Amino acid sequence: MSKVLVTGGCGYIGSHANKLLAESGHHTVALDNLVHGHREFARWGRFVKLDLDDRAGLVKLLAAEKFDAVMHFAGYAYVGESVSDPAKYYRNNLAATLNLLEASQAAGVDKFIFSSSCATYGLPQSIPMDEDHPQDPINPYGRSKLMVERILGDFSSAYGLRSVCLRYFNAAGAAPGAGIGEWHDPETHLIPLALEAALGKIPAVKIFGTDYDTPDGTCLRDYIHVDDLAGAHLLALEYLFQGGRSDCFNLGNGNGFSVREVIATARRVSGRGIETEDAPRREGDPPRLIASAAKAQRVLGWKPRYTDLAEIIRTAWEWHQR
Ligand code: UFG
Repeated sequence: MSKVLVTGGCGYIGSHANKLLAESGHHTVALDNLVHGHREFARWGRFVKLDLDDRAGLVKLLAAEKFDAVMHFAGYAYVGESVSDPAKYYRNNLAATLNLLEASQAAGVDKFIFSSSCATYGLPQSIPMDEDHPQDPINPYGRSKLMVERILGDFSSAYGLRSVCLRYFNAAGAAPGAGIGEWHDPETHLIPLALEAALGKIPAVKIFGTDYDTPDGTCLRDYIHVDDLAGAHLLALEYLFQGGRSDCFNLGNGNGFSVREVIATARRVSGRGIETEDAPRREGDPPRLIASAAKAQRVLGWKPRYTDLAEIIRTAWEWHQR
């Protein structure tokens, strides 16, 4: 069994991967600066509070711990904020990642798994999007992720640090009964907001854009369960252990659901009313983002367990009711 550093281990996706790693017998250290992470999410393995800005601290940690691999989830993920404050995104998602990469390289870590995003593609030119789709991100968040992908390519060629970039589509749901789930402050994502409206915590969900060229005029997204994302990280780790070369993989279900369909499903799952309010388009939202994850299925042997949107939302609903 291996020893894995999980950065962002107190965040939404990082905590789910940390849980699965620990349950699969791996030793983990969940690292988080707790700016957006929740200390109580580090319920598996060890926890270290550290900011990736702290280069000396990182070098020391990695030199001491002798990790077999790094899984890098830490990062800011508010697309709108990245447009208004790009420096924050390049400092955290890019410069801090470079600290981590250099510390990993110095410590002799040669396996690195990176949380990338479908936001690296920008506006879709074809649907579904596979990994060969041109990458032309339309916001600093997507650009920061793409720049790290490029840096990883260079580190792979120059230093032999092998990496897997996992391009998530829309992460959703929660591990049933595990006490972890989607908890952002502020919350901007559709499913948690719909469920907050179902719980009466907010009066209504805004529908950002009703005049898109889609069947019901609202944006289509590919929702993928967070446990399926976590599972892909384990397979990527195995792939690297077996000598796999650096590569990128999409992670999605391959189905697009509109904003209205998501809200209707949230109503059905929760059995509650959810008020909506039509609102203007949100800047930087592509009309459709739908994955082809055939490559992850073929190369990594990944197969999502949650293929039904209602099931995905049901696990989120259980979490939001707690
Ligand atoms: N939406 C609404 N009302 C809301 C919130 C969202 O209509 O209150 C719509 C959005 O306009 C979008 C869809 O619901 O069409 C999904 O929006 P989310 O904010 O839930 O997620 P995004 O599609 O914006 O997610 C994107 C990328 C991810 C990236 C993430 C970072 O698809 O790859 O932003 O937060 F990681």
